[in-house]
Amino acid sequence: MDRIRLRGGRPLEGSIAIGGAKNAALPLMAASLLTGDTLTLSNVPHLADIATMAQLLQQHGVDVSMDGGPGNADRGTPEGRTIHLSAAKIESTLAPYDIVRKMRASVLVLGPLLARFGEAEVSLPGGCAIGTRPVDLHIMGLKALGAEINVENGYIKARAPKGLKGGVVRFPMVSVGATENLLMAATLAEGTTVLENAAREPEITDLAYCLVAMGAMIDGIGSEHLTIHGKPSLHGAQHRIVPDRIETGTFAAAVAICGGRVELLNTRLDLIESVSDKLREAGCDVEETARGIAIGRNGSRLKGVDFLTQPFPGFPTDMQAQVMAAMSVAEGASMITESIFENRFMHVPEMARMGANIVVHGASALVRGVPKLTGAPVMATDLRASVSLVLAGLAAEGETIVNRVYHLDRGYERLEEKLAACGAQIERLKD
Ligand code: EPZ
Repeated sequence: MDRIRLRGGRPLEGSIAIGGAKNAALPLMAASLLTGDTLTLSNVPHLADIATMAQLLQQHGVDVSMDGGPGNADRGTPEGRTIHLSAAKIESTLAPYDIVRKMRASVLVLGPLLARFGEAEVSLPGGCAIGTRPVDLHIMGLKALGAEINVENGYIKARAPKGLKGGVVRFPMVSVGATENLLMAATLAEGTTVLENAAREPEITDLAYCLVAMGAMIDGIGSEHLTIHGKPSLHGAQHRIVPDRIETGTFAAAVAICGGRVELLNTRLDLIESVSDKLREAGCDVEETARGIAIGRNGSRLKGVDFLTQPFPGFPTDMQAQVMAAMSVAEGASMITESIFENRFMHVPEMARMGANIVVHGASALVRGVPKLTGAPVMATDLRASVSLVLAGLAAEGETIVNRVYHLDRGYERLEEKLAACGAQIERLKD
């Protein structure tokens, strides 16, 4: 298995091209199941999770073809890859355990398959390193649209022989995935569906705009109250995927840790305001530029700031570990509370091995900043925890080796190349 070796202590200078959002691309790819025409997505990041979703769709019978290289403004391919998906002929409505267990977002095929073909059988995703992550809200919502659903033998078996019917779904808690599944399903339901307490993440807004381009009628896009007027069918469309706000925030956190100044290209400040506000409070400069965002920290040490993870527009859980890495070397203390997932502090013991002073009390972590971390071999059990250890390594004196790099490859395209181009001492060790 590949590893990442890095030596900390250098400021970052230069520019980094941000790719399309993984967490937008995955539901958008699933949306291709809603039509027999071709859906073309551009700005698709080159990531392991995208390959897994392509594999899942192919085994359903979707024709998937890809062109273009990895997104890199400096190399003249700022658009990333383009992927063409055609679900003209579906061979199977079964999403097997072998693929779903690799990637929970596989459950996003449930709504589209059920809405268009009247049946779907999708493996239950099971547990996960960051929490139990049930899918009860997806099931509750689809039942409210008239689906008959049984959970048997580890599979969600869903039927709607006469098609789905519009209904009112009030989510008891905000769920990104459940909102996406219901939004997609409702586009082909008979009549009007109302989704209340819907998630408002930019990836959902992106999905909604793509569905509209495919012929769907959706009111309230960007709000927690979505109204969908079902159509008998949708058609093909072309859609450019929104920039990855978590990749953006991760590199911003890297600059906060290392100092220097980096321009993040092809991205937008409004996608990460909750994060940029905290980084400013901690002493960084963040400004919009014609090409994206510039972030800098010169001279003074970071200051500890408190934050709480929340659904969008709150501080994203997917940025908690990275900003914790920054807070571990800040002046003063920082209280970080995780309100979305119950087990998302797996990076804490690894950061402690690098000299961080962090105490976890239930859903909160008290970080007392130390002047410096020291390099160590580390590993983590999920994507964002892994990248937070890369960031901690950038702050550490001496050598850090991050093991289990496959987690990083699920969500960061050419991470080490992008950081090295800005002066970080980082390389991938191939095994
Ligand atoms: C999405 O996961 C993202 N994944 C996650 O990113 C992200 O951390 C999460 O949203 C929160 O922002 C994708 O978009 C592919 P949820 P999702 O349903 O949809 C509970 C990353 O690192 N819940 O909003 O699975 C759930 O357990 C990943 O890129 C139920 O109880 O998240 C959690 O506590 C990790 N029942 C909370 O809701 C349900 O039926 C929010 O989960 C569904 C969710």
